[in-house]
Formats: sequence, structure tokens, C-alpha cells
Amino acid sequence: MLSWDEFDQVDGADAAVASHTTAQIADMNIDKLDQVGGAAAVEARAIAADDSAAVARAKAALDQLDIAEGLAELEGASARVAVDEKRMINCRADLNQLVPFKYDWAWQKYLDGCANHWMPQEVNMNADIALWKSSDGLTDDERRIVMRNLGFFSTADSLVANNLVLAVYRLITNPECRQYILRQAFEEAIHTHAYQYCIESLGMDEGAIFNMYHEIPSVAKKAAWGLKYTRSISDPTFNTGTVETDKELLRNLIAYYCVLEGIFFYCGFTQILSMGRRNKMTGVAEQFQYILRDESMHLNFGIDVINQIKIENPHLWDAAMKDEATQMILEGTQLEIEYARDTMPRGVLGMNAAMMEDYLKFIANRRLTQIGLKEEYPGTTNPFPWMSEIMDLKKEKNFFETRVIEYQTGGALSWD
Ligand SMILES: [Fe+2]
Ligand SMILES: [Fe+2]
Repeated sequence: MLSWDEFDQVDGADAAVASHTTAQIADMNIDKLDQVGGAAAVEARAIAADDSAAVARAKAALDQLDIAEGLAELEGASARVAVDEKRMINCRADLNQLVPFKYDWAWQKYLDGCANHWMPQEVNMNADIALWKSSDGLTDDERRIVMRNLGFFSTADSLVANNLVLAVYRLITNPECRQYILRQAFEEAIHTHAYQYCIESLGMDEGAIFNMYHEIPSVAKKAAWGLKYTRSISDPTFNTGTVETDKELLRNLIAYYCVLEGIFFYCGFTQILSMGRRNKMTGVAEQFQYILRDESMHLNFGIDVINQIKIENPHLWDAAMKDEATQMILEGTQLEIEYARDTMPRGVLGMNAAMMEDYLKFIANRRLTQIGLKEEYPGTTNPFPWMSEIMDLKKEKNFFETRVIEYQTGGALSWD
């Protein structure tokens, strides 16, 4: 762990700036900073004979720059941050200082996410296109599964991304967690891209697919359930800092990480991956496999964030909040069971709605215990143990080691 104590020996201009107290920094103006930097800055800003009027105006304007006013907007920015000042929520320390890390797990997840980078176009969709267009390649029940899941996921990942960027990011007051949230937000964009890529490759009716979240009841109910938890915290005037608003953020994190990403994705992932295991729609299944790997990391990050907030704010995790969290997870499980019945009116691909119900109860038990709550479906076992194999990055054939990565080649770069 890095600590500012290791940096006692500062020298030169750094030492001069570091030694300023908050009050001194508040007094700083550009003239004083220019003195620390020596004559070079002053010389560079001197108006030369060949400067245009616009250049001269820009140089003159910088003479009026009020550093204190600029820095005042950054809460606590005038001091170096110590590890124990860092907090998951309601932190007053400067959020622009990434190190020293307090939550190493968040930084590690950011690195792991980057190491797993992939793009939808890398997956070959030719076999899927041929199968989808053939009249007897898939049963109606199998087509229903592909359509419903592309319908649900193509908007669900946008809901997750919007919730992250427009609501959660601002309220999580820790830079290493924000770094992961930025990575996650980009991954959600890649997932939406992947669904769009599948929909386009298969020549599906895009309007019908992208509107399922308000036209098909089993899809609409899940989307509406999630949106309910975004509403208050995405209001730009919403702030944490009271017991009630801190709990509201916690509800949002439980709704999105434990339920949306932790339960609502699982029926669909299982169905599509089961299809891939039977050599059908293998391109779509491969896309879903990479997405599932990303999602299991999102889920684990969210669980760590929720548990860290509980550790730092034990008063939030009272009996009422525990009951509420349990109920949210059970409501989500129920909606996912309804989705399983709607997407599988009959047995298909070696599974049926009853088996999926068992699987979802097994998943719900995991989500409950991961945030310290008791299991509500005791004795439930996992009917699809192969799903855990797929999620474990180490056990599967490693796509990320075997492929050739050339996102931007030298030939494609242009400096013009
Ligand atoms: Fe996603
Ligand atoms: Fe996600």
C-alpha cells in the first residue's frame, strides 16, 4: 500500500507547493505560481511582436487566472489525501487523487476488466446467420428464446449504463471505484453493441426487438422494476449524507448489482449458453459468454461496494434495511421466474421453466448470502453446474490468450 509517508523527501518546486497550507493556497494567484516556476512561464507569456490580437488576448487573460477560484470547486483539493480519509460514500477528500489506494480490490478489478477486453466484431456470426435464415434450423421455441433475450438485454444494458453514469458515479466518492465504474460503463456500451451486432447480423426487426421492454410484459416488468430504483438518485439535486438518502443509494446498488445484473441476466444467459452447448447460434452464444464473464465481475464489484458501505456505515444496515434488501432480491427472483415461464412455455434445449426456477432460487440464495443476509430457499441445488464453469475465467478455454488482438494497427493510425 502506498503512503504519503514514503514521500517525505520532496524537493524543488514540488516542495514549495506541497508546503502551502490550505489558507496559503487560497491566496495563490498566478503571479505567485509563476515565481515558483521561475522566469520561464513569465517569459513564455510575454506578448511578442508577431502575436495576433487573439494570441495576445489569451496571454493577457491568463494573467487574471485565479488559481484559488479554480481549485475551490474541488472539495478538499488543497491537501494531499491519506488512505484513512478515503470513504466509499460522503468522502470529503480530493477525488482527483487516485493513489494511495484504499480499496485494492477495486483497482484489481479495473485491471482485470482491461485484461479481458473484447469487441463484438471479433466473433464470427456466419453459422448463426445461416441457421437463423434456414426454415428448419431452429424450432419456434428456440427462436422465441433468441428474440426475447436480445429484446431484454439490448435495453437492459442501457439501463445499467445510464444508472452508472447518470446516478451512481457521482455518488460513489472514491477514485479507484470510479475508475472501475468507468471501465464497467464502457463494457456496458460494448454489450449493447454486441446485442445490436447480433440483431443486425441476423436481420431481425430492430423496432420490435428494441421496443420489447415496453411491449412484452415479462420484459417490461423487469425494466420497470429497475427503473424505479434509478428515479430518485438520478435527480441532479439528489445527494447522499443523511440516513435516508444513503439508504436510497444502497437500495439502488442492491437493485442494479444484486438483482438486475445478479438475477435478471441469469435466465437469458443460461438459455443462450445452453443453445451454444448444443451447437446452435454459436456466435450469439460466444458473445453472451464474454458478456457473462464481464457481468460476473460487475456483480462482484457491486457486492464489494455494498459490503464496504455497510462496514463504513453500520447504522444503515439496520433490521428494516435488511428486510427491504431481502424483499428486493425475492421480488427480482419472482420476476425472473415469470420471465422463465414466458420464454419457455414448454421444455426446450434440455431445460424447462421448473428447472430454471430452481436455478434462480439457487442464485437468489447466493445473492442474499453475498451481502450478509440469510438464504430464503434453503436446500435448493444448482441444476446447471456448467454455468459456474463458464463463469470461471480460469477453467474455460481462454479466448483472451489465444486470439490475435489488433484493435488499432500502425497502418490504421493517422496523425493528419
Ligand atoms: Fe452488461
Ligand atoms: Fe454489467
